[in-house]
Amino acid sequence: MKKEMVIVKFGGSLITDKSSDKPKINRLHLEAIGKILNQKNYDLIVVHGAGSFGHPIAKKFGIATGLDGSHGQEKAIKETREQVQELNNILCNYMNAEGISTASIAPSSTMTTNGPKEIIDFPFELFDRALKENKIPVTFGDVTQDEKQGISILSGDILMMELTKYYEPLYSIFVMDHPGVYDGDPNNPDSKIKSIINIETIKNLNSNQKGADVTGGLVGKIECAVEMANYSETWITNLDLLKGFFDKKPLGSKVVL
Ligand code: IPE
Repeated sequence: MKKEMVIVKFGGSLITDKSSDKPKINRLHLEAIGKILNQKNYDLIVVHGAGSFGHPIAKKFGIATGLDGSHGQEKAIKETREQVQELNNILCNYMNAEGISTASIAPSSTMTTNGPKEIIDFPFELFDRALKENKIPVTFGDVTQDEKQGISILSGDILMMELTKYYEPLYSIFVMDHPGVYDGDPNNPDSKIKSIINIETIKNLNSNQKGADVTGGLVGKIECAVEMANYSETWITNLDLLKGFFDKKPLGSKVVL
């Protein structure tokens, strides 16, 4: 029988120490991910972000806004790609340690973009092939060749959107370092997780939660998630709650139209 599918994105803030200006992993979270994903009931696709692998250097050299022709930026592009690929290797290693077979799909060598929000030639065949071989495809936010601006930063959130539209999985899950989207300041103990969110949520988002980075933080994520809700049950949750999804007990913030 064909298995149902779940697509998961691990945010950079979860798998790395995002406050660090140098690449630094969050080992405990990576270990926990390997253990949670070791299940046999669902076909899985994994997407991950960059956090401190990629974001600081991309910001410093203005990579998100395209090629500026400088030698410094050229070096920084190479370094950013190396950093995100390294993080991908690390995550795959933690999964492999649990006996999970992975197939790494790097956007910098397999996709072209037309601005940061549009992938021109999404290589679905690579994902299909990996799934057929009982491997989990693992792709990630990366620096792509871009038709409009020479290079672009392709966020894992856009990859989530494209994959969700194509595969229409049972669940599409953004796993972050918070159990969902708060109704106020996440640092205030009185703030609660909103069980349902939609595009209106963006207007009242607390500024301590927006998390501005080179790919748009939580606002960009909610915009993608609302579009995805047309195709799949879409959630924002954390690592502690992720296990429940594999028992069909989803918890966190559910994204609706
Ligand atoms: C960013 O990807 C990729 C680079 C900075 C090269 P994401 O936008 O998916 O990363 P996170 O989850 O915000 O860290």
